[in-house]
Amino acid sequence: MSRGSLLERAATVYDFGEAFRARAGAPAPAPIEAPAAAPVAPEPAPVRFVPPVAAPARLPIDRALLDAEGLIVPGGAVTPLAEEMRLAKRQLLTGAKTLAAKLGDRARAILVTSPQPDEGKTFCAMNLALSLAAEREGAVLLIDADVAKPDVLGRLGLGEGPGLLDALADPRLAIEGLIVPTDLGSLSVLGAGARSNADTELLASARLGALLDALLAADPQRLIILDSPPALAASAAATLAPQVGQVVLVARADRTGETELREAVALLDGCPAISLLLNRVSFTAGPRRFGYYGMEDA
Ligand SMILES: Nc1ncnc2c1ncn2[C@@H]1O[C@H](COP(=O)(O)OP(=O)(O)O)[C@@H](O)[C@H]1O
Ligand SMILES: [Mg+2]
Repeated sequence: MSRGSLLERAATVYDFGEAFRARAGAPAPAPIEAPAAAPVAPEPAPVRFVPPVAAPARLPIDRALLDAEGLIVPGGAVTPLAEEMRLAKRQLLTGAKTLAAKLGDRARAILVTSPQPDEGKTFCAMNLALSLAAEREGAVLLIDADVAKPDVLGRLGLGEGPGLLDALADPRLAIEGLIVPTDLGSLSVLGAGARSNADTELLASARLGALLDALLAADPQRLIILDSPPALAASAAATLAPQVGQVVLVARADRTGETELREAVALLDGCPAISLLLNRVSFTAGPRRFGYYGMEDA
């Protein structure tokens, strides 16, 4: 059968009869009686499309920003910093395994603190998390618990959003839903969240321990790194210490004094394992911008 012209095909869907008859002066045919109304079919029930539950999108970490901050760049060159972080990381992983018998899940939570601000807590917490995530199969969750000076999400190039404080303040919020998965393998991040007048009480509350337990129990491979407030400048580090398996106490080689270190260790002694991480130790002269690290048991 030929496909016919456009007009022929149009005539099959449109009655041209009236226009032709009017032109020829022919009488209009008797109106056709409308057939008796057919019984009305019941309205079909509305259909709602429920999309499949998708995994939350992995947000891209800004590699150029990491580089500019002197942080470990995933897939980048093996720098002395990356080597030192690898050593520190190995010790922490061994510690987590050893402590598991005694502490259970909590052995997989590590608090990174220092006596004072600006000694490199965030720098070290991020580098440890980046280093762990680069090599480890299991999940690494970096939590920004320095709620007075939160900057983990910003330093990764991720936007701020609800986080730890929101989950502490509102028990109806599911904390897993606030975790930001990243495009770096196993690394995900939980921001500090919205501040309120009750931040100190929230961090000290029993609910923090319960949230940590839930996060650790949800994935038996998950390792949690908490970037903490300074130990001597705020009370939160001391209240967080008994909730974790290990504390990494960052000391700035050119600034942190022995007295401050001793005071900090005394405040953090609720945690069974405190290690010292020397930041900005420079063994070589020259233009190197970033220091070496050493780590030893306190
Ligand atoms: N080893 C290091 N090499 C280079 N820069 C560093 C080093 N440690 C810290 N910094 C920088 O010093 C500043 C303070 O460090 P930060 O980690 O924010 O301190 P804190 O979290 O203890 O307040 C940041 O700009 C950080 O990038
Ligand atoms: Mg910090």
